[in-house]
Amino acid sequence: MAQPQAGPAGERIPDTMEARVAACIGCHGAAGRGVDNVYFPRLAGKPTGYLYNQLVAFRDGRRKYVPMNYLLAYLPDSYLYKMAEHFAAQNPPPLAQPPVNASPQLLRDGERIVTQGVPGKRLPACIACHGADLAGREPGIPGLLGLRADYVSAQLGAWRYGVRTALAPDCMQVISSTLSEPEVAAVAAYLASRPVTNARPAKTAPAALPLRCGSQHASQGGAPK
Ligand code: HEC
Ligand code: HEC
Repeated sequence: MAQPQAGPAGERIPDTMEARVAACIGCHGAAGRGVDNVYFPRLAGKPTGYLYNQLVAFRDGRRKYVPMNYLLAYLPDSYLYKMAEHFAAQNPPPLAQPPVNASPQLLRDGERIVTQGVPGKRLPACIACHGADLAGREPGIPGLLGLRADYVSAQLGAWRYGVRTALAPDCMQVISSTLSEPEVAAVAAYLASRPVTNARPAKTAPAALPLRCGSQHASQGGAPK
């Protein structure tokens, strides 16, 4: 697949990163900016390690979305890492956010869980890992702003039902299983209601994560050998 392909007139299409990611932008938007479809996430500016872990997970079937499972099948690690680096380096302006239709009480519940967790259930605050500004943390923890409520609740549901799995220990599996349905609805609505900034993922490691996350540790090594 690293071979140049013959174009319509027989000329060679150069194997640039733009050519490689041409198949992605129909769903993820130019420069990975995102599109209006609520289930097609923005890619731009997310940490390289996080994007790489997702591409490996789709290729290997640990995260399921059939068009992406097919598109990435058999691609080597180094190729996936280059695509992850490409989208991590993009910084297009965020899309306009649709208004969130949620009661003030639901948004307050969501804010409390995101910023304080649920101590009675030993559920840590989302910001303990995703950052006080929710912009994520290098190398493996994504930001949570600019995601639509339906996407967030679909991802948390996928973890709970084992359709999405991250590298062990899978901290988000623990978190998703601890949240009740109303708590999922509250955090999804609250996150979608927050203004999106172009804040970049934090580079510094926190003192310690409240739970161990395999995806954060695995990404410390950088590019695959
Ligand atoms: C047919 C539409 C489609 C195409 C083409 C496509 N994607 Fe996706 N992609 C999606 C959808 C939908 C999801 C979310 C799937 C889910 O619900 O888990 C996704 C998720 C992702 C994620 C995880 C994002 C996150 O925040 O967790 C990455 C990374 C990604 N795609 C990269 C790519 C790359 C790179 C390409 C091109 C090689 C590509 N995608 C092509 C639709 C597409
Ligand atoms: C112990 C650290 C930790 C805590 C606490 C945490 N997360 Fe996460 N979260 C992660 C990691 C690591 C990932 C990336 C997992 C992967 O590689 O797929 C992630 C990924 C996610 C994603 C996927 C984003 C995407 O673009 O697909 C969502 C949604 C999410 N977390 C929501 C939450 C919510 C809501 C809370 C609070 C209730 C929370 N997280 C608390 C570590 C954490």
